[in-house]
Formats: sequence, C-alpha cells, structure tokens
Amino acid sequence: MNSVLIIGSGIAGMSCAINCAQKGIHVILASPFPSERSQSVMAAGGINAVLPGNGEGDTVESHIEDTLKGGAHLAGTKAVTGLCEEAGDIIRYLESIGTVFSVDDKGRPAYRAFGGQSHKRTYYCGASTGKQIVTALNMEVRRFEAKGIIERRLGLCFHSALIKDGMCYGAMMYSEAANRLENIYADALVMATGGQNALFGKTTGSTQCDGYAAGKLFEQGVILKNLEFIQYHPTTMETSQKRMLISEAVRGEGGRLFYNEVEERVYFMEEKYGPNGNLQTRDVVSREIWATGKDVYLDVSFVGKKLIDERLPEVRDLCRKYRDIDITREPIPVAPSVHFFMGGIAVKNEHETNIKNMFAVGECASIYHGANRLGGNSLLAAMYGGRVAARALAGRESCGEHPLFERELEEAQAKLNEMADTKSTFAYAHIREMLAQTMQENLGIVREEQALTKGLEKIDNYITAAGKIHYDNSVLQYFNYSLPGILTLARAVLTSALSRRESRGAHYRSDYTKSDDSYKYATLISYDNGKYRTWLDTEGEYES
Ligand code: FUM
Repeated sequence: MNSVLIIGSGIAGMSCAINCAQKGIHVILASPFPSERSQSVMAAGGINAVLPGNGEGDTVESHIEDTLKGGAHLAGTKAVTGLCEEAGDIIRYLESIGTVFSVDDKGRPAYRAFGGQSHKRTYYCGASTGKQIVTALNMEVRRFEAKGIIERRLGLCFHSALIKDGMCYGAMMYSEAANRLENIYADALVMATGGQNALFGKTTGSTQCDGYAAGKLFEQGVILKNLEFIQYHPTTMETSQKRMLISEAVRGEGGRLFYNEVEERVYFMEEKYGPNGNLQTRDVVSREIWATGKDVYLDVSFVGKKLIDERLPEVRDLCRKYRDIDITREPIPVAPSVHFFMGGIAVKNEHETNIKNMFAVGECASIYHGANRLGGNSLLAAMYGGRVAARALAGRESCGEHPLFERELEEAQAKLNEMADTKSTFAYAHIREMLAQTMQENLGIVREEQALTKGLEKIDNYITAAGKIHYDNSVLQYFNYSLPGILTLARAVLTSALSRRESRGAHYRSDYTKSDDSYKYATLISYDNGKYRTWLDTEGEYES
C-alpha cells in the first residue's frame, strides 16, 4: 500500500505510524490533540513481558496462560500467543528508542508484580510508564516527519469513514481551525481512537475518549464486539475532576486493602484469597470491594518511605496534591471506577474490521483481553497491535483509483451549517450528563435485567431528545454532530450486556451469577437502520 490515514496519535496510533513509515508507507497521522495529550500518557503501572533474564521460572507460555485465564477464556489463543511472544522484542525496542525504564540494583530494567499474574513481569517507568513511552515514540515519529514520510494533522476530529461497497477509502474529518469538514483519502484507514470513558462521565480515563468513532462506524456497518466487558479498576480515588487511578503497582509493591470494623482493620482480600489476595484480577477485586458495602482503604505505608520514593513517586505526589494524603504514613480511600473497555471494534487477527482496508488498533479494538484485561497488557497490546496492522498493510496492494465522496462531503457540511444556524444554547452537556448517570447506575459492577432494560429506555429517550434539541452554536461543531453516535454506542453497550445471560469476567449479573458454557464466545453486534442485532461468535470469526 502507498498511503494510510491513522486516526488517533496515542501509543497504538504512533506504533502503527512508525511501523508503516519503516516500510515506506506514507502516513497521515490525524488527531484532535498532540500525542502528549492522548489518554496513553495516563497509563501508569507498566507493560508486561517475559525477557530471558526474568528469572523466577517465568515463561512466555505462562504469560499466555495468565492472559487467557484472566480474560475468562474469551480471547483467541492465536492472537494472545502472538502478543506475548513479541512482548520481549517490544521492551527491547522501547529501550532502544530511549524509553526511561526504572532499573534494578544492577542497572537492568526492573519488573514488578501485577494482578492476576503467576510471575512478576511488569516492566515500568515509576508510575508514569505511558508518559515515558509516548515521549520516546514521539521522537521517532518526528524523525519520520522530518523525512516527509509521516504527516501529522492536528486539530482534526473524526466525522465518518469513506466506505463504498464494503471497502474503506479514508475518512471525513472535522477541522477545528477551519470549522469545516474535509475528506482525507488513503489506501487504508486505521482507527486508534481509544476507549469510551466519557460514556460514563467521571472515570480514570480521558473525556476525549467518548466512543463517538466506534458509535459512528457502527452506524456505518462496522461490527462491534464484547461491549459488555467493561473493566472497573479496583483502586481509584475521588477528586473534583476525575477518578484518579491509584496504580495496581501500589498493590504490586505490597499495598494492602482493608476496611474498618470497630477499631480493627479487616484485610478482606487476604482473608478470602490468602497472601496474594490483593493481587487477584481486577474484576474479582472490584466485586469484592463492592460486596463489602464499606469504605475501603489501601495502605502501602508498611513498605517504607524509601521504596515509595523510589518506585511510587507519582502516586505519592498525586495523593498529596489532590487529597493532602501522605501515603508513607496514611492509607488511601479507594473505590472501583470504570477504567478500560475490553470490547470495541471487532477485528480479525490482522486487526482488520469487517470493512476491507479499515483497521483498528489499541483500546478501540477488541481482540486480546477477552472478558477482563490484565494490568500491564494494554500498553503491550497498543504497541503490538500497531505493528500487526502495519505488517498487514505492507503486504496489501494499493487500491489505485478511488471513488470520490465529494457529494457526501457537501451534504454533511450543509447539515453542520444548519446546526450552527440554530439560535440556542442547551442540551448537549445536559444529555451527556444524564447519559453518564444512566451508564453508571444501570451498568455497574453488578448488573441485572431490570436495570439494564431501564437503562435502555432512558437511552431511547435521550436519542429522541437529541433529534429535537437546539444545538449550541457557540461550541465546537464536533460536540453537536457527535452526540447521536455516542448515544448509539451507549445503546449497543446496554444491548450487549442484556444479551449475555451469564456472569463472566467483568460482566457480572446478579440474575445469572454463574458462567454458562453456551456463552463462551464473543458477543458481536451490528446495526442496520436503527435495528441492533447481537449474536455469539460461535464460528470463531473474530477469535482465533
Ligand atoms: O493500575 C495501573 O497501573 C493500570 C495499569 C493498566 O491498566 O494496565
């Protein structure tokens, strides 16, 4: 292929861009914000890999096994095997481009324990691993920018994909600066737009990740997968702006969860699961915290100031800054919050969607994590997915002559202008707030039929309201045109959750508390003219 349009410039987007550029493919790397403001910079704890020096009997096979088991056997073995086998090479590459990993006494990259893993294998940069990786990748992207192989386009928001007869030719984008839509044509489109945090309002993630791209693509015929599997991170701290992530690294370094019972601490995870109780998988820990019905705390002071200063300085600083808590002496009040989406755009092993030449990588794609992701596997999957997609693109023919979508552009622009002419200021923000409240209330850690159905009814009301509201012409047009797509996605998430009548991984139903083998497949969902259809991937089309 000659050219690719990549939308999203976090770790997955940059990994794909660099790998395409290395293969001589011209890349347009489009995003609303610079990479330094992508959600990737928030990734804290680390990136998993088994390197020859790991010791302690760790093997790539056990990384594969832990990932499949942690995902409640819903991820495909072939995909997960590829991910884990390439992890060591990814760490070495990241080191080679200047990622500043924390090191052990001998100056080798250090690794620590993370949840749901049989061995210590999480490499880290203090508790700002994402930020360090973004910094290093950014420098690489710049080298290719200087050679004219990567072209960065900032201030561009996704509007829709250019699709004809099941084939993708690029995307229509909204330019903030010009306040206009434009078509960007390319041989292939790679979506790297992140998760869907903003559906839920306050989460550990970025509100930029609003799920609009997935919702719009769904309306355009792209199949989505496993939307019901939403990861609640067990340890987050309330602040005025967001749920602040208290990295799993705190428990990896010895932090203990407890609640207070008449002057006495109850270390409930250790009581139930033994010495490794605090490092159970996130779905388990979150449910257990929920089940206590109490205020839960995380205490890491036992490990001492020296270790905290060395290995958890970012956590120490953010607790001090946002809540005036000194973690070397005091426990941190924590509660679970939405953190990661195992579901998203359905992709096959090469990361291609059901639309030819449209790919998805990173958190917006659903492939490696099954029903629950292991901490440390998301940065790995972002790096790896970018590589896999680039390899596939390099092996494809250029599409040559492409159809033009200029009439579609004119129509979309006219619709946008119509919105901007409306004299009113209301509703977008209000509907988004109501949506977040509905998602939090009706699709929590524990779900059941009645609440899910109620949630669907509410979303239907918001969809009707969104069709009637007066748009706010003083804000970016993006906010106006994105609302229907966001609501469509929310409806798809609730529909998927209703369709899975069992409990598995992060999807726990109080009305179907057991796993049921007839559901041991991915949930797929498609959209056709307002109709949502779900089915199970019993043929393994998207799981291999
Ligand atoms: O807890 C954490 O540091 C989060 C890591 C992850 O989600 O992989």
